[in-house]
Amino acid sequence: MTNNSKTKKALFTDINKSDVGDLMSIELACHSHPWSEKTFSSCIGGRYFGEQLFLDEKKQSATGFYIGEYVVGEATLMDICVAPAEQGQGFGKVLLNQFLAQAKKLGAQKIFLEVRAKNISAQMMYMNAGFIEIDRRTGYYPSSSGFGYEDAIVMSLKC
Ligand SMILES: CC(C)(COP(=O)(O)OP(=O)(O)OC[C@H]1O[C@@H](n2cnc3c(N)ncnc32)[C@H](O)[C@@H]1OP(=O)(O)O)[C@@H](O)C(=O)NCCC(=O)NCCS
Repeated sequence: MTNNSKTKKALFTDINKSDVGDLMSIELACHSHPWSEKTFSSCIGGRYFGEQLFLDEKKQSATGFYIGEYVVGEATLMDICVAPAEQGQGFGKVLLNQFLAQAKKLGAQKIFLEVRAKNISAQMMYMNAGFIEIDRRTGYYPSSSGFGYEDAIVMSLKC
């Protein structure tokens, strides 16, 4: 899936609060329980870092983004999304690698994330990057189907 001609064109820019409105369309399309624009905005700046991925040099429309948090040697992947029409072509992996590189640059020695138990494609991506499951939070998320709850799997990676 990866290393096709499209992923080679990937360009990154930092996410600012003014980008949030545009990125909300990807956020809404990717999650059953998306962040609100207010929550997304609260994860920009300060201890948070994030980048958006573009395929066109004019950087008009983002294909995906990630948001990370860094606090004293530990980074957490808060969100990672690829626009549905562009999924399955390697962009998730490109974004994850960019997040990992930035987290290490900031000084992260350990990286954490949480993922829905039923989100197997994301889990595969994380496992292939070296993450291992370290905990499970029973019924942590409201279910994607809208009925009941879903476990959160906590994963970590040592840098
Ligand atoms: C998770 C997500 C970011 C992955 O992005 P993507 O561009 O589709 O992923 P890629 O094409 O880079 O694939 C990366 C890896 O994911 C796994 N993967 C992707 N699609 C998969 C599928 N349908 N089934 C199983 N594994 C899959 C594979 O391990 C793949 O690596 P490989 O190509 O070496 O096999 C994307 O699906 C997404 O935005 N999902 C909605 C939001 C979300 O769930 N975010 C994660 C929250 S924790």
